[in-house]
Amino acid sequence: MTQTLRLGIAGLGTVGASVLRMVARRAQALTAATGRTIAVSAVSARDRNRNRGVDLASVQWFDDPVALARSGEIDVFVELMGGSEGAAKDAVEAALAAGKHVVTANKALLAHHGAALARSAEEHGVTLAYEASVAGGIPVIKAIREGLAGNEVSRVYGILNGTCNYILSRMEAEGLTFEACLKDAQALGYAEADPTFDVEGFDTAHKLAILTSLAFGVEIDAEGVSVEGISAIQPLDLTMADELGYRIKLLGVAQATAEGIEQRVHPTMVPKASAIAQVMGVTNAVTVDADAVGELTLIGPGAGGEATASAVVADIADVALSSSAPGLARPTFGRPVSGLAAPRRVEMQRHEGGYYIRLTVHDRTGVAAGVATRMAEANISIESIVQRRSAKAASSDPQGLSGQPVPLVLITYAATEGNVRKALSAIDRDGLLAEAPQLIRIERD
Ligand code: NAP
Ligand code: HSE
Repeated sequence: MTQTLRLGIAGLGTVGASVLRMVARRAQALTAATGRTIAVSAVSARDRNRNRGVDLASVQWFDDPVALARSGEIDVFVELMGGSEGAAKDAVEAALAAGKHVVTANKALLAHHGAALARSAEEHGVTLAYEASVAGGIPVIKAIREGLAGNEVSRVYGILNGTCNYILSRMEAEGLTFEACLKDAQALGYAEADPTFDVEGFDTAHKLAILTSLAFGVEIDAEGVSVEGISAIQPLDLTMADELGYRIKLLGVAQATAEGIEQRVHPTMVPKASAIAQVMGVTNAVTVDADAVGELTLIGPGAGGEATASAVVADIADVALSSSAPGLARPTFGRPVSGLAAPRRVEMQRHEGGYYIRLTVHDRTGVAAGVATRMAEANISIESIVQRRSAKAASSDPQGLSGQPVPLVLITYAATEGNVRKALSAIDRDGLLAEAPQLIRIERD
């Protein structure tokens, strides 16, 4: 038996406390699998006096995570604080520079500084592991980086944020408000410290940027992701989606095109019968389209302490094995940083697909015709059009002459984003709109 692998864990919140419990609970099995004893020797968090439901009596406490990262008492620095800047970045940089292996669940940090951190890991001959950063408990990093190494990937997409999928699922199934569902997601430990990252799509964008790098062999380009979140989704959109045979999911999509790699995050209408539409609650799903395997989908818990700890502990076990047999260590993004290609961005205006467009128009003669004309001028073919009036509006204005705001919902055949935006601007200029339009892209396969 070789010496103990000593862990320093910074961050004792939802994920950190679960990791401590799992390392203790699985101690024997981890030793059997790796040939090493794995022990937590030091920890750091902001509040030393907070009860975290874990026994910290035998571990050293550091107020400063950077000091912990540099400590001679640890071999692996486990970063579970979060945030792309500040303590997390400083501590991970310090750990790598001090020759410590790093395990992190921090997608924001990797999305913004992944290449530089991977370069530092290479220079110092240590591992930077981050399985927990994408899709919680799903081993998707390993699957793409190692399991699909022989494939050429054409697309990777999925539901990458547990909080958003939980919110959309409960709003749809139980008719709850967005705010109530978000509150529950926070209480369950799914949401980020600042839930704006979840609901405005940034967390999905961070994860997508990581997957894009792995799947396509390019440097991470988080700024190149077009991002829209779910906060503008109205109950009416969920009802209309249901009636039209769709469900709304927040998807991250990275797709190879002739011009480069399209990276986009947005609420998406998916056919109710599709596999991705069945993924509900905190569950995530990642689909990879690749030449040899065809379509591969991984489904599992996307957030929460235990699920995320599962991925963190798997990385720790990998480090335990590879640090005694360095040939087993993997380059952070599947190849040395110098071998990653420069990303080529594809502007969202060029995206082509179907669209759900909900306009709030003034209910008067010629409005639908005016909308249809502007769509036709922009070369957009309409698959269906539905105007909805409340029973109250119908009885007070049977002829539809009052100009009251009413929803007019259109589903288009494939059109470019640029043309859709052009048509909507023209409709707005014509004075037909009572509110800003709602636009949701449709993904049919
Ligand atoms: P959390 O519950 O908010 O816990 C964060 C922990 O970091 C807390 O213990 C906090 O200390 C500590 N911390 C924050 N700033 C610190 C600083 N400057 N110095 C020392 N300690 C500091 O967060 P979490 O949900 O566990 O998430 C941790 C990381 O995992 C994040 O990167 C997140 O994106 C990622 N992640 C989370 C999940 C999930 O389901 N929650 C899933 C996948 C990945 P105090 O407790 O003293 O305040
Ligand atoms: N806040 C994230 C989510 C945690 O809800 O998916 C998992 O990365």
